[in-house]
Amino acid sequence: MSDETAGQNIAVQTRSLSRSFGSLTALDQLHLVVYRGDLFGFIGSNGAGKTTTLRILATFLAPSGGRAEVMGYDVVRQADSVRHIIGYMPDFFGVYKDMEVTEYLDFFGACYKIPSAQREKTIGDVLELVGLTDKQGTLIGTLSRGMQQRLGLARVLIHDPAVLLLDEPASGLDPRARIEMMAILQELQRMGKTIIISSHILSELQSLCNRVAIIEKGGLIYSGPVGGAQEQITSGPVYWLRVGTDLDRAMEVLKQQPQIAELEAVDSRIKITLQDHETDPSEVLESLVKGGTKVIEFREDEVGLERVFMHVTRGETQ
Ligand SMILES: Nc1ncnc2c1ncn2[C@@H]1O[C@H](COP(=O)(O)OP(=O)(O)OP(=O)(O)O)[C@@H](O)[C@H]1O
Ligand SMILES: [Mg+2]
Repeated sequence: MSDETAGQNIAVQTRSLSRSFGSLTALDQLHLVVYRGDLFGFIGSNGAGKTTTLRILATFLAPSGGRAEVMGYDVVRQADSVRHIIGYMPDFFGVYKDMEVTEYLDFFGACYKIPSAQREKTIGDVLELVGLTDKQGTLIGTLSRGMQQRLGLARVLIHDPAVLLLDEPASGLDPRARIEMMAILQELQRMGKTIIISSHILSELQSLCNRVAIIEKGGLIYSGPVGGAQEQITSGPVYWLRVGTDLDRAMEVLKQQPQIAELEAVDSRIKITLQDHETDPSEVLESLVKGGTKVIEFREDEVGLERVFMHVTRGETQ
């Protein structure tokens, strides 16, 4: 693929995107690429920077540094063009409790200057898509949470945007409502939309998305196909070893240890991948010491994707 062709296939791209709030760095040089037609999972624990990224892409927040483009338009310099081609569903959106469903959508349709003759058909179409056709005259305040979320989705579809930015659209939904929401997103992907959906629950997005990015503390940890990420999760934790004695001798001792899945000498250090997260690393350390190895350093890999995954999938930060 030439650079130009690759460029045409890109829906969203950020380069060294950064954002600070006072002394806090919420986004730190984030590079992200989302291709057209992707159903893209944006995963990170609480405070990782998901909402900040989506708000910048939606032109609601200015970056402190770096750039972001949506369908080739710069989010700062061409904010108006970006607004027309995106549908942004924030994590918390106010519900107009005393408005009827159709009235609410008509209001937003008018905001997007959709001619009134066309609005009625458009509203019918989006309601059908999200499965709320029979709720047209219902007061929003009486809809269930799941229905309100689907109405929120209908609202961002009203101007037929090419790119959807959805901030945790399934949060707070029961399993059935979640599945319904996911089915709607798959239908939207089939219609050719590019969709970015954030979540702190990896398992929720695993079967839905074709590609994912994982961020932690405002930086990218993984980006690519879901399968690649899964490969990483299945491996055990990684430790780094530095010895003051013979490296080959230490390798020989380690090769005898059943708790170790993989061994690799990297420069003057040894990278040890344990079998799984239940393995006790102190057993490995003990075998080295008994084998006469002088251990200078033995530490866990700090940015191991698997650790982030465990963190995220266990939902420890909810
Ligand atoms: N307006 C703001 N003022 C100050 N700090 C902010 C502001 N918005 C976000 N932050 C900080 O930036 C960091 C990233 O926040 P962000 O909301 O992007 O995370 P998130 O990944 O969406 O988290 P969550 O899963 O909780 O929604 C956090 O430390 C947060 O406290
Ligand atoms: Mg958020």
